[in-house]
Amino acid sequence: MNIVVVKDNVEGGQKGYEIFKQAVDNGAKVFGLATGSTPITTYDQITASDLDFSDKTSINLDEYVGLGPDAPQSYHYFMNEHFFSKKPFAQSYVPDGLNLDAMNETERYDKIIADNPIDLQILGLGRNGHIGFNEPGTDPESTTHKVKLTESTIEANARFFDNEEDVPRYAYSMGIASIMKSKHILLEAYGAEKADAIQRMVQGPITTDVPASFLQNHPDVTIIVDEAAASKL
Ligand code: GLP
Repeated sequence: MNIVVVKDNVEGGQKGYEIFKQAVDNGAKVFGLATGSTPITTYDQITASDLDFSDKTSINLDEYVGLGPDAPQSYHYFMNEHFFSKKPFAQSYVPDGLNLDAMNETERYDKIIADNPIDLQILGLGRNGHIGFNEPGTDPESTTHKVKLTESTIEANARFFDNEEDVPRYAYSMGIASIMKSKHILLEAYGAEKADAIQRMVQGPITTDVPASFLQNHPDVTIIVDEAAASKL
């Protein structure tokens, strides 16, 4: 793992942008995108730049079950607001939270990923070491699946909702195996609340208790962390 320690998320966003630019320059066609507060500074740098994605494809990691693109807390809405409205792709895929037929939706999404192999996947990190919505205990062989969110994730994500009760209890997420197939992976993490997860991901044993620890098996991972997130390394 290539670890880049930065001062703060603004400097991290600049580094993240540079990694996207390098991927574009090297001919990357398919970008795996993440939501959450972490990638926002990278997205801000990208959308303010002259990078062009109009002949490229994006595939998002996850979506809440029950929320569609018009719901302000949906990940599709987030992507429209922070990225797609400013910098459109030829084609953007996000799991369809309104498709309540989980088998149908997960198979549909797996086919999209198989047809569009991801060149660069950006990831955030949950406080419990989750990536996408792959919570502790997720099978490393998993592809897209329906997930029951843990209490820790519901609590962490409640800040985006009026009440904790409004946070959906289920999500669709690319699996760990889906993420591991990406050619390059960029994971960003900022703040002291991510320090434990970063330490366990980088230095701990590879275990389903820490889904991000499987990234130790990937040949091309860059991690951008601020000093607070790196403080336990
Ligand atoms: C959510 C998302 C993850 C994200 C994580 C961290 O649960 N499903 O993809 O990485 O939260 O979020 P944040 O970046 O806001 O800390």
